[in-house]
Amino acid sequence: MLALTDLNTHYGQAHILRDVSLRVESGEVVALLGRNGAGKSTTMKAIIGTVAATSGSIRYGGQDLRKLKNYQRARRGIGYVPEDRRIFKKLTVAENLATGRKPAGKGQEPWTIERVFDLFPKLAELKNRLGGQLSGGEQQMLTVARTLMTNPDCLLLDEPTEGLAPVIVENVTSAIKQLKTHGLAILLSEQNRHTAAALADRVYVLEKGQIIYDGALANMPAHAHSALGW
Ligand SMILES: Nc1ncnc2c1ncn2[C@@H]1O[C@H](COP(=O)(O)OP(=O)(O)O)[C@@H](O)[C@H]1O
Ligand SMILES: [Mg+2]
Repeated sequence: MLALTDLNTHYGQAHILRDVSLRVESGEVVALLGRNGAGKSTTMKAIIGTVAATSGSIRYGGQDLRKLKNYQRARRGIGYVPEDRRIFKKLTVAENLATGRKPAGKGQEPWTIERVFDLFPKLAELKNRLGGQLSGGEQQMLTVARTLMTNPDCLLLDEPTEGLAPVIVENVTSAIKQLKTHGLAILLSEQNRHTAAALADRVYVLEKGQIIYDGALANMPAHAHSALGW
């Protein structure tokens, strides 16, 4: 579904991603692991188009994403949840969700407010609360939920549980597990070993912009563990 091949990116003169290759299929959760500064967010930004690739290919559903504008990539079904939660503070939870609504693709069961409330029961309780009055964890759930309202086929989650209280981590983790059963292709960046172990079918380990391991978390060699500081 999503495949990066030998992707390179630069910020000015700084060469950040170096020949990054990875793929994510439907119904799969793939974790992109790496310490701060390894290039996880840059990888996601290259996929959605806010960071330019300097070489390599990004293919999605058989199409070359590098030929598409950012809004066209989103329209093709790529949902992105950035590290910094982007909700509308002066809109209620229900109104925030309504702003995400986009038509579903062919054969897709469209996401509705009711369906996202089934996935995040906490948000149902808070539906009339203003975004600005939510805790960080509630805002994170709302950001994921609003992205689902765009009916994506592929979801990019940039450190979705970072900095959240354990009970909220549990909510977000269980929601991601359920999403997998809906057939979404999910690329999740993560630094937490337990969350990665709970969710990921496969992992890629990034160190200084290079993939140094790909495969099962359980088989990860010592050098990859130490690159992660685990
Ligand atoms: N806008 C930017 N301008 C210059 N360098 C950047 C910018 N954003 C990130 N970087 C650098 O790119 C590298 C990768 O960053 P990032 O992708 O954010 O890592 P991660 O998400 O894994 O923490 C880091 O060295 C970071 O300092
Ligand atoms: Mg990051």
